[in-house]
Amino acid sequence: MSLISRLLGSRAAAVPPGRAAAASPPGSPAPAGRPAASTDVGLVAFFTADHRDIDAVWAEVESAPDLAGAVDAARRFDAALRRHLDWEEQVLFPAFEDATGHHGFGPTEVMRGEHAHMRAILDEMARCAAEEERTALEEQGDTLMMLIQQHNAKEEGMLYPMANQVLGDPGWQAMAARFR
Ligand SMILES: [Fe+2]
Ligand SMILES: [Fe+2]
Repeated sequence: MSLISRLLGSRAAAVPPGRAAAASPPGSPAPAGRPAASTDVGLVAFFTADHRDIDAVWAEVESAPDLAGAVDAARRFDAALRRHLDWEEQVLFPAFEDATGHHGFGPTEVMRGEHAHMRAILDEMARCAAEEERTALEEQGDTLMMLIQQHNAKEEGMLYPMANQVLGDPGWQAMAARFR
C-alpha cells in the first residue's frame, strides 16, 4: 500500500472535495504565555513540537485546580490548536499541493476534513467553557484528543516527512519565515 493510500485511510470517501480553508490569517501572534516552537529544527520537528505543545496545554486543562483555571487553559488550548490548523491549511498544505499537484484530493484534503471535525468539537468546547460546564468540557476534550492523536500520527509519520522531501530545505525556509 502506498504512503498516500495509507494516509488517506478509511476517511477518504467521507471528505467532500473543494473544502474551503478557515479564514484566520497565518502567522498570527502566538497565544499569550505560549512561545512558538523554533523553526530552526526543520519542518518535521517544528510541526511535531507544536503538536506536543498543544498536548501540554490540554494537560493544563485537566490538571487545573479550579474552574477558572480550566476555562483559562481551555481558551489557550483553543487558540493554540486553531493556529496550528491554520498554519497547516494556509501555508504547509498549499505548498505540498503545489509541489505534488494534489489539489482538491489526496492526503491534505483528508487532513482538512479532519481539521473541520476538530473545529466543530472546539466550538462545542467553547460553549461548555462559556457555560462553565467543566465535566462536559473535559469529555469533549477527551474525544478531541483521541481524534488529534490519530491525526497527528498520520501527519508525523507520513505527511510531514513527505512534505519535507518534496519541498526540501529551500521550501521550508520560505515557509518558516511565516511562522516567526
Ligand atoms: Fe493537521
Ligand atoms: Fe498538525
